[in-house]
Amino acid sequence: MISPHGGVLVDRNVPQPEPMDSNLPIIQLNRRSQSDLEMIATGACSPLTGFMSQHDYSSVVEEMRLADGTVWSIPIALPVTDEQVSDLKGAEAAFLSTESDGVIGKIQISDIYKPDKEREAEKVYLATDDKHPGVAALLSSGDYYVAGDIEVYKLPEHKHFGEYRMSPSKLRAAIEEKGWESVVAFQTRNPIHRAHEYITKCALEMVDGLIIHPIVGETKSDDIPADVRMACYESIIEHYYPHRHTILSVYPASMRYAGPREAIFHALTRKNYGCSHFIVGRDHAGVGSYYGTYDAQKIFGNFSREELGVEPMFFEHAFYCKRTNSMATTKTSRAMDHEKVFLSGTKVREMLIAGEDLPEEFTRPEVSDVLKKHYGGKN
Ligand code: ADX
Ligand code: MG
Repeated sequence: MISPHGGVLVDRNVPQPEPMDSNLPIIQLNRRSQSDLEMIATGACSPLTGFMSQHDYSSVVEEMRLADGTVWSIPIALPVTDEQVSDLKGAEAAFLSTESDGVIGKIQISDIYKPDKEREAEKVYLATDDKHPGVAALLSSGDYYVAGDIEVYKLPEHKHFGEYRMSPSKLRAAIEEKGWESVVAFQTRNPIHRAHEYITKCALEMVDGLIIHPIVGETKSDDIPADVRMACYESIIEHYYPHRHTILSVYPASMRYAGPREAIFHALTRKNYGCSHFIVGRDHAGVGSYYGTYDAQKIFGNFSREELGVEPMFFEHAFYCKRTNSMATTKTSRAMDHEKVFLSGTKVREMLIAGEDLPEEFTRPEVSDVLKKHYGGKN
């Protein structure tokens, strides 16, 4: 089985101490920070053991590496507001809480710093305007970052997808049980359309197992909600995927839409989940026209295979080709534009709202049915 990033799978879950030290200040976590906490606590963000220090943060923003040189592309920081910072003055630690769970853990505060968010936006997102959803989330979060190792007493409670929530160690055990030596992970925030199906199956031809690993943390409001997508995944797997070679599990991170940088993050964290390979297709983790179609593939060239550990599998733009009546990519097809079935996200939404079936060349009918039901009420 592939080694975790940095060599050791982190586990920051500890039993809740009794009695609890009641004098500590409390930091309430928003949904994004809850996702980050879960990713750190379960080892999905190995080798991170807490929220990043200023030293690591600056190094990640500027160099795509932690201060010790380990490849890392996305800051994992805990933002707090000016008011919260004054509560934290002099405190060595703080409890971490969520609105619905109360206290779920603790941070041992190592430093509190004011990040240069413009710089972070420019370097990490390659954008500074708040029409970019990741930049908007960054700019609207607290102006200070609190750093330090965390201990987690219980993970934030989730109402959905219980059976599909597998921590890195659980997923590693499931992979072990299947006897797979090579495993490819597929990140997605969309229903699985034919293009996704094609690239996942091309990838599976080369390895023993496929992890369909949809992101279920925060996504932007016009992305299809995770529960609807899960119904799509269940249905397409039921009808069209080989059960012996496929696992569906959820990925608790929040979407950052940071394109190339996020592709590296997605790959490294999937390595922590036990995946040896990772799919990167067209405009991976992109939004609008902020990134070039294949920028998220090119960025892998900045690092050696040894330091990444996980092997990226690149795919060019896939579509249904009417010339051959099969799926293909720009690499494998001679189709002219009018021979390619292509629908924009906007067109797809319009058709679903109008109660129309999506063409079978674009989406399997079982998936189309789930989507139609979801959009049906919104006419
Ligand atoms: S995201 O993480 O990239 O935002 P999305 O669901 O849109 O999720 O895509 C999942 C994966 O499929 C990404 O690696 C993306 O590059 C790839 N992908 C999506 N559509 C296509 C397509 N038509 N051709 C090739 N790759 C695609
Ligand atoms: Mg996409």
